[in-house]
Amino acid sequence: MGKFLSVFSVRNMLVLSLALNVSLFLRVLVLHDSQDGSFIGLRFKKQNRQQEVTSPVSHSSSSSSSSSLTMAQGDEDRIINLDHGDPTMYENYWQKKGDETTIVIPGWQFISYFSDATNLCWFLEPEFAKQIVRLHKVVGNAVTENRYIVVGTGSTQLYQAALYALSPNTEAEPISVVSAAPFYSSYPLITDCLKSGLYKWAGDARSFSKKGPYIELVTSPNNPDGFVRHSVVNRSEGILIHDLAYYWPQYTPISSPANYDLMLFTVSKSTGHAGMRIGWALVKDKEVAKKMTKYIEINTIGVSKDSQLRAAKVLKVISDSCERSNIEQGDSFFEFSYRLMAKRWKQLRQAVHQSGLFSVPDFPPQSCKFLRCVFEPQPAFAWLKCEGEIEDCESFLRGKKILTRGGKHFGFSPKYVRISMLDRDKNYDTFVERMSTIRL
Ligand SMILES: Cc1ncc(COP(=O)(O)O)c(C=O)c1O
Repeated sequence: MGKFLSVFSVRNMLVLSLALNVSLFLRVLVLHDSQDGSFIGLRFKKQNRQQEVTSPVSHSSSSSSSSSLTMAQGDEDRIINLDHGDPTMYENYWQKKGDETTIVIPGWQFISYFSDATNLCWFLEPEFAKQIVRLHKVVGNAVTENRYIVVGTGSTQLYQAALYALSPNTEAEPISVVSAAPFYSSYPLITDCLKSGLYKWAGDARSFSKKGPYIELVTSPNNPDGFVRHSVVNRSEGILIHDLAYYWPQYTPISSPANYDLMLFTVSKSTGHAGMRIGWALVKDKEVAKKMTKYIEINTIGVSKDSQLRAAKVLKVISDSCERSNIEQGDSFFEFSYRLMAKRWKQLRQAVHQSGLFSVPDFPPQSCKFLRCVFEPQPAFAWLKCEGEIEDCESFLRGKKILTRGGKHFGFSPKYVRISMLDRDKNYDTFVERMSTIRL
């Protein structure tokens, strides 16, 4: 028995070591590729053989469609994955900033669960809170006076905390949660993930007619179509959550400070630091803020201090860059990101026009109080429509090796797809080039 075990373990060790080496080899290739700007464009350098590979990042709802495409040499054959809104286009700006955003945390610091035991949100780092208030003042996009700040592990956690806090626990049935279609594709998934007895996804707000209380999500500017939005159900029993992830000047003119009861923000789309997993809620009602804090306490016992401190530093550098930009033109983060989004939308509109097969929305120009100019919204996603006979736009583009998220994920028609505008330059440029040459 002992002999058998020793032979068995040696063999197993050999197999395990082989598997580890292969996986290490693949990881090196993925990392190498991600650094040169084509995260999804994996290229295997094996002799004369095209390999079937699975996208290292794939959205659960569309992974089946993106998992078995064949890779080949050359940009014209490379798969371009614009399914996710991964904000890597900001990398260049932060790279140029060098050490300005570097923080060092000694091993003995920030080891307690608590950040400020006297604050309602006891795990909120005071410096982060200070920089949130400062940035909203500088940009003028949200009222922070008389608001409680609740920090979350991304605004995704805050959305769940808000549902928990706003749902009445006296009702026999879960409260309905609605949003006007096309709505952010994660809302239904997150809402119904645990089949809660407190709340339940009830779909498109425009066709919602059930009597009684409800929660309406208002995403403005909207993901996926980029339009400015207001609540649509408009009944007295409605409770509103405003998801303002994209209410920043690179995406839309800032007309006035948002002033709603519960507003969600995230660094993911404002500064591009999605990997920090930091969001914040501005909450008017003390009891709601307390319940949200309680949810996060039960869920993750607070939010990473390291991430909050890093986020505080990034927000500070942005506010500094905005205040300095009056003197040093062009250094401000929002001027940089505004110009880049403007360039990308111009490129896309040209490509769409050249191809003749697609359309993208037109937006009315508006005055931006922050940038002090009039411009058309330039959303983080393009809500692209396949015109004519193409009924399934996602499949059609997949055939051209462009991965997008189809309209059905957003409660809408499959003639539409959502395309991320936030990828790295190299991927984006290849994408628009390919779009301009697509024919039936
Ligand atoms: C409207 C909207 N809200 C929330 C999120 C998620 O933000 P976070 O990365 O902070 O969880 C996204 C991300 O795409 C989004 O588009």
